[in-house]
Amino acid sequence: MKVIVIANQKGGVGKSTVACNLAICAAKDNLNVALVDADPQGTSMQFRSLRQADDISALAIIQPSIFTDVPKLTNFDLVLIDAGGRDNILLRAAITTAIHGLLLIPLLPSAVDIWATEDTFTILREARSIGAQIDAYAVLNQVKPNATVGKQAREAMVELSANNDVTLLEAQLGDREDFKKSFMGGLGVIEYDPKSKAALEIDALYQELRNRLGLNS
Ligand SMILES: Nc1ncnc2c1ncn2[C@@H]1O[C@H](COP(=O)(O)OP(=O)(O)OP(=O)(O)O)[C@@H](O)[C@H]1O
Ligand SMILES: [Mg+2]
Repeated sequence: MKVIVIANQKGGVGKSTVACNLAICAAKDNLNVALVDADPQGTSMQFRSLRQADDISALAIIQPSIFTDVPKLTNFDLVLIDAGGRDNILLRAAITTAIHGLLLIPLLPSAVDIWATEDTFTILREARSIGAQIDAYAVLNQVKPNATVGKQAREAMVELSANNDVTLLEAQLGDREDFKKSFMGGLGVIEYDPKSKAALEIDALYQELRNRLGLNS
């Protein structure tokens, strides 16, 4: 069993969107997947309740016991954790659970958003300082179809990420309506419109993460 923790203390960066869509990619890839909602807001649980297909198991764990509870989910191939945004013990426990796989930090490609991620890097640094070996990756989300801005943000992120021992993934997600429309129907973008750019992008992200985790379907 491998774990992907999707976290960023900054709100609205796409944690729930990415977690739910990756869960569906993994289910379509014949993995036994659990979606753990570690955010008291409950967005991922809501998504699961909207979803008719019974191919992903969702559970809410909004206690610091997430750190010991998740490793017991050994029936699953992949556990995705949608980690809530507050800086509290729960978020720290969720981030530290990434020792069983990897940490994925979604980032919006603007200077303000990149600065706001410093708090998350601090939590990561602190976890590592007490011995947690966490492989951490960042993914740019909601990239506008404006190559120059996207390129500048990428360069800034590569540098900031490298300073924090975080790898910026090749895959990135564009600002696409399909992510919003599909979510409301409990669908992943790969189901909503399999040929869309959104679908190709999330699939590329899923493949990149799967390779990093060494997961075989
Ligand atoms: N790539 C994208 N393209 C278009 N809209 C997106 C994309 N990613 C996320 N969104 C939208 O941005 C908003 C925030 O996304 P989401 O709820 O996934 O973020 P979050 O980090 O989980 O937020 P919170 O901190 O409130 O839990 C939602 O309305 C979602 O539909
Ligand atoms: Mg959320």
